[in-house]
Amino acid sequence: MTLFITFEGPDGSGKTTQIQLLAEALTRRGQAALLTREPGGTRIGNAIRTVLHDRAHVEMSLRAEALLYNAARAQLVDEVIRPALAAGTVVLCDRFADSTLAYQGFGYGRNLAELRMLIDYATGGLTPNLTVFLDIDPAEGLRRKRGDADAEWNRMEDKALAFHRAAHAGYLQLAAQEVERWLVVDATQPVASIHASIWQSVSPRLRISESTAPTSQSR
Ligand SMILES: Nc1ncnc2c1ncn2[C@@H]1O[C@H](COP(=O)(O)OP(=O)(O)O)[C@@H](O)[C@H]1O
Ligand SMILES: [Mg+2]
Repeated sequence: MTLFITFEGPDGSGKTTQIQLLAEALTRRGQAALLTREPGGTRIGNAIRTVLHDRAHVEMSLRAEALLYNAARAQLVDEVIRPALAAGTVVLCDRFADSTLAYQGFGYGRNLAELRMLIDYATGGLTPNLTVFLDIDPAEGLRRKRGDADAEWNRMEDKALAFHRAAHAGYLQLAAQEVERWLVVDATQPVASIHASIWQSVSPRLRISESTAPTSQSR
């Protein structure tokens, strides 16, 4: 029994915080878990990430941007995600294909059908079993991130707030279209409460007991 779980949401919504907590919770209970992120997670993906996030790359065309994200995604799927799932490891990914639909699609107002074709090619049809959406007003998320001295500030985060608001609205639309796959969590709650909501959704899917006993093998 394995699972592919992705984390989505505005910058500063707590994706990195929550994905680490979930990885720790799974590992404590003896479930192998692999934590990765987009764009990146591979040598080639990290090189693409550098190109995408470079603030000097102001001339990057929207199609080039979409292709670069999906090139990194294809490498991650082939090199890391599919092999891990095949080995029975739970894969947790910080951003995935829904980020392309939210930002390149809804954010820029680009053709969603085209982007879905691109995503389908990049992923070979692999879709997450569960997508956690950390729901926060993008302005609040950006404020949180600005308050974090260690946060990296990249080219995507420079873009206007209207873009981030359109992406946020897009996320909610995607979640409403596929309610089985999405878990929408109020990301303004305390870290521990958000983690509890996520655990409540993940543990039954892995047939792990809600109890915290690390050795319990329920059902
Ligand atoms: N539930 C929360 N409430 C308040 N601050 C939070 C919460 N979750 C995360 N943070 C803080 O907000 C900032 C962004 O969190 P992070 O996990 O890096 O978000 P993301 O990966 O989505 O950009 C960090 O300083 C983090 O400590
Ligand atoms: Mg992060």
